[in-house]
Amino acid sequence: MRPLRTALLTIAALLFVAVVVGLYRSGPALAKEPSSRQIERGRTVAQLGGCDHCHTPVKLDPALGLPVPDRARELSGHQAGAPDPATSLSGKDLAVIGPTFTSFNVPLGTVYASNLTPDPETGLGAWNETLFIRTMRTGRHLGAGRPVLPPMPWRSIGDASDADLKALFAYLKSQPPIRNAVPPPKVSTEALDKLGRSYDALVQRDAPGRVGDP
Ligand code: HEC
Repeated sequence: MRPLRTALLTIAALLFVAVVVGLYRSGPALAKEPSSRQIERGRTVAQLGGCDHCHTPVKLDPALGLPVPDRARELSGHQAGAPDPATSLSGKDLAVIGPTFTSFNVPLGTVYASNLTPDPETGLGAWNETLFIRTMRTGRHLGAGRPVLPPMPWRSIGDASDADLKALFAYLKSQPPIRNAVPPPKVSTEALDKLGRSYDALVQRDAPGRVGDP
């Protein structure tokens, strides 16, 4: 009896190890790990897409006499407590930009650039590439929520290829997380509903094929 039991236990142990090793080697987390080439491509897409322009606050460089990106706050959006634009729109203006280039008065209200760093609570930490692509293709938060407000250029970003958008997302995810809770936009629910319906009609008219999943 003894040798048989030992043999069976040994086989069971070997099988267990084989399954664990197999799962580990073919695991989805491992297979999906972005390559450094993909991240580099994403960095280029982000540079050309000008994400930095609105999502990194600027501060005045006194020596240059120019507003320059605050690199310590790279891509972390409008900082909690930072100022709104000081003036409201006049005439047919479409936007007034606040002093850090992250707050915007638009005809619908005041909008703040989001935190694009991978912080789990205040940034994109909980997003995945599918949700990111859906957002850019539909103009709706995570593909189904409230409309993404101007001046966020989701339409032109959403025109990029799946591969470029996946690389862009991989690059954003590779950045250091910065905790910064961006305030919600000051826009009425009615205005959001109306804009959302207009976006849906726009996407249906101009690019009905692109709302499918990547
Ligand atoms: C002209 C300014 C501007 C540029 C350029 C810009 N954004 Fe934005 N972005 C915004 C603003 C403002 C918001 C907040 C919109 C809102 O609250 O609905 C935003 C929101 C977002 C969101 C959050 C959307 C959501 O549903 O929560 C993501 C993701 C995003 N931008 C990614 C990018 C990426 C990636 C780039 C570059 C390829 C980029 N943005 C370029 C202004 C900009």
